[in-house]
Amino acid sequence: MPRKRDHLGLGMRIIRSSRALAAWGETLRREGVRIGLVPTMGALHKGHRSLIRKARLSCDALVVSLFVNPWQFGRGEDLSSYPRRLGADTALCRNEGVDVLFMPSQGVMYPPGYRTSVSVREVTRRWEGEFRPTHFEGVATIVTKLLCLIRPHRAFFGQKDYQQALVVRRLVEDLHLGTHLVMCPTVRERDGLAASSRNEYFSVRQRQAAPILYAALQAGQRAIRNRSRVADRVRREMLKVLRTEPLARLDYLAVCDPQTLEPLTRINAQAILLGAVRIGQVRLLDNLLVRVPRR
Ligand code: PAJ
Repeated sequence: MPRKRDHLGLGMRIIRSSRALAAWGETLRREGVRIGLVPTMGALHKGHRSLIRKARLSCDALVVSLFVNPWQFGRGEDLSSYPRRLGADTALCRNEGVDVLFMPSQGVMYPPGYRTSVSVREVTRRWEGEFRPTHFEGVATIVTKLLCLIRPHRAFFGQKDYQQALVVRRLVEDLHLGTHLVMCPTVRERDGLAASSRNEYFSVRQRQAAPILYAALQAGQRAIRNRSRVADRVRREMLKVLRTEPLARLDYLAVCDPQTLEPLTRINAQAILLGAVRIGQVRLLDNLLVRVPRR
């Protein structure tokens, strides 16, 4: 029997119009093809590649979307300088066996007269939501639009942006979108720095400093594994490490409940350690999910 993928024909299609994408999805869904989606803003790196590979293995037809979504950038953020590498991104997707690369223009996603937004309460309030007040509304809106257009069976997000993944999980459930979300592990450089499209902004000295955030999170993880249950003590261990790097300016380091992202006082079963620091113009974001060891 032919594999379902054989319905798709060879080669990757680049689709720019929402109507063409919806029609493609509709036809495949009717044939029982399982569709996967990996949403991105491009400048693809090994973190994105790991999502694409995971999706490729568990879906018949794979869509990668590439759209630098202006709405999720705040005033003074790096929208105009955000890295754009269409040639390399297209080649990576082709090599990884992506079926459709969806690259809409701003006019396709937000045509004149566009007025609708999606806002998710509670889980967006703290951390990134506090430092980037319009960010999650932009993310929630674009992700909802992609999910409605493509109606994928599965969508793949990185743990690297843990709060973002929780926001998307919430909206998928609240709006009955029916997509199964898969949260994929953070891919790191050899020194622990989480791979990110923004890492290329660093100077040599800043790049040397950048692994400090992960080192701080690891100090928190060690404290929990050494049976520290008081969240404040764990937080102090993380801060101690972070303060050894003069280039790192702290936005937050927190010990939180992995579901609600509310700060914990005592750590019972597990905790998510969340951190954001600025080094030069770059804002680094990272996290570690830590399970309390059994006695
Ligand atoms: P972007 O930053 O391009 O990331 C796309 C996806 O890749 C996200 O799910 C992100 O968490 C994941 N990712 C990034 N770095 C990773 C790493 N080092 N390891 C594992 N996964 C990683 O996140 C966005 O775009 C946008 O907000 C988007 C969801 C596309 C909406 O515009």
